[in-house]
Amino acid sequence: MSTAPVAPPVVQARNLQRVYEIRRGFFRAPDHLQAVGGVSFELQAGKTLAVVGESGCGKSTLARMVALIETPSAGQLFIQGVDAIHAPQQERKGLRQAVQLVFQNPFGSLNPRKKIGAILEAPLEINTRLPAAERAAQARAMLARVGLRPEHYDRYPHMFSGGQRQRIAIARALMLRPALVVADEPVSALDVSIQAQVLNLLADLQQTLGLAYLFISHDLGVVGHIAHDVLVMYLGHTVEHGDKTTLFEKPLHPYTQALLASTPGLAGSSAVRQRIVLKGELPSPLSPPTGCIFSTRCPHVTDRCRAERPELRELAKRQVACHHAEKFLVA
Ligand SMILES: Nc1ncnc2c1ncn2[C@@H]1O[C@H](COP(=O)(O)OP(=O)(O)OP(=O)(O)O)[C@@H](O)[C@H]1O
Ligand SMILES: [Mg+2]
Repeated sequence: MSTAPVAPPVVQARNLQRVYEIRRGFFRAPDHLQAVGGVSFELQAGKTLAVVGESGCGKSTLARMVALIETPSAGQLFIQGVDAIHAPQQERKGLRQAVQLVFQNPFGSLNPRKKIGAILEAPLEINTRLPAAERAAQARAMLARVGLRPEHYDRYPHMFSGGQRQRIAIARALMLRPALVVADEPVSALDVSIQAQVLNLLADLQQTLGLAYLFISHDLGVVGHIAHDVLVMYLGHTVEHGDKTTLFEKPLHPYTQALLASTPGLAGSSAVRQRIVLKGELPSPLSPPTGCIFSTRCPHVTDRCRAERPELRELAKRQVACHHAEKFLVA
């Protein structure tokens, strides 16, 4: 009996880390800021992994590493089974086409002096040998695919609404037929009604094109619409990671519980319905708490949490980094 070869996951990230050197004066030794402290995940074609957490927890840094625009300080990254960190130049070029980015503010990344047609054709011009007529045809087809009109081909970016501009940015990202789209807060700057339209578009495109999404968001409401899996980050570390339904129905990390409790309309489980208010400020990433990184703000903190960093471990169909997670299983 022959079995079809199984395609490798679109992304395999193993213990990805990123440390920044912060210089504070010529004669002082630099400080080290760990923006991402060892994050692992796998992402399959056609699936969305959402990365959530408060401002500064390392989401964009992780996104830039996976999008191959920033080199990890440590760890491994495989894109379509290819070692993306150590691949030779030519292979990296191929990977760069397979991975595309969509940002929060597309206006900043759309050249104001170029018409939409030219903006969409630029990636083809640089990376392919397609004749001009074929490039134009593909750009027009992509416009239709993202819900824009044929006459938009000859317009400039400033002539569009925020939602339309985000559609243009998505169209441009798809021109080279990527396998993975890394989207960093792609709908955060949009009105709620427009957010839903763009999320629906992303979901449709994923279905028809089999795209994998690494979807960065601080908004669990948005994540609820689009994610298959969810990875919750706190101060550069994964605190909980698993299937969306599992996490939303019974979050086992107090931080996930707090995030869900503060998101209107998501009060699904009893653990979520009781409102959890986080104590204190987010600690500085330059001096993270010893023991559990969440210990300074956790309502369930014990002496053990202050002394001993909990490992990320398997429990009830997800991974969670909390000494007391069992307690919430029965709650
Ligand atoms: N180039 C850099 N040099 C030094 N520190 C950086 C750099 N980029 C990010 N940082 C720091 O790394 C940490 C993580 O930043 P990052 O931008 O990844 O967070 P984020 O989760 O995307 O936040 P936000 O939700 O505000 O976008 C922060 O403490 C930030 O100040
Ligand atoms: Mg960010």
